[in-house]
Amino acid sequence: MIVAIDGPSGAGKSTLGKMLAKRLGLLYLDTGAMYRAAALSVKQMNVDPDDKDKASRIVGEAKIELTGEPDSMRVFLNGEDVAAEIRTLDMAQAASIVSANSGVRRVMVDQQRRIGESAPNGCVLEGRDIGSVVFPNADIKFFLTAKPEARAQRRFEEDRAKGRISTYERTLSEINERDQRDVSRPDSPLTIAENAVVIDTSELDLTEVFEQMLDKIRESRNEAP
Ligand code: DC
Repeated sequence: MIVAIDGPSGAGKSTLGKMLAKRLGLLYLDTGAMYRAAALSVKQMNVDPDDKDKASRIVGEAKIELTGEPDSMRVFLNGEDVAAEIRTLDMAQAASIVSANSGVRRVMVDQQRRIGESAPNGCVLEGRDIGSVVFPNADIKFFLTAKPEARAQRRFEEDRAKGRISTYERTLSEINERDQRDVSRPDSPLTIAENAVVIDTSELDLTEVFEQMLDKIRESRNEAP
């Protein structure tokens, strides 16, 4: 079974994707982490993320691997554990630039399809183009969204808990800038895929969203609640 979860940053995709993967016994694939590792591979070569030709060549040769359980996932770039390094603000911005590059997207989408198709029980994939491009025939597609202010507040609190220093205003402006780039790029912009179940998580707590998602999955499998 393939579960696709798309939406802007801070809507709860990662947390809910991990919860679903655990509950359903599926592999969990954070495709944003792959784009972040791709951006890091470009940065490590001192290449400008905007340089499309060089960036796609570097990413094409990079070895990006995600291993481990959803809660303790490790991300390897050319054999080096980069799970912490890719979570910086700088890397989020670089990933957003690199992910607008069609050459890079082609490499990532191929890998994501291969990983999803070879997962023995199926896979939960979360990102921006899973239901629209990577797995348009997914068994179920979700689009999680929330007001920018709610997403910025969550991100800000997460960052603070991790000891990262920022302000709510700065987080909000970064989220708006990234959203703008993700929805306006010509190749695979963030969009609501056909047949996607849209959930606005602004006013809901995690458990409520989780239950709604499980219900939809049961419905799609024709199971009783
Ligand atoms: O979900 P995230 O913040 O880790 O994603 C980092 C960047 O990668 C984000 O700006 C959008 C991009 N991305 C994408 O274009 N397609 C995906 N399937 C996943 C992420």
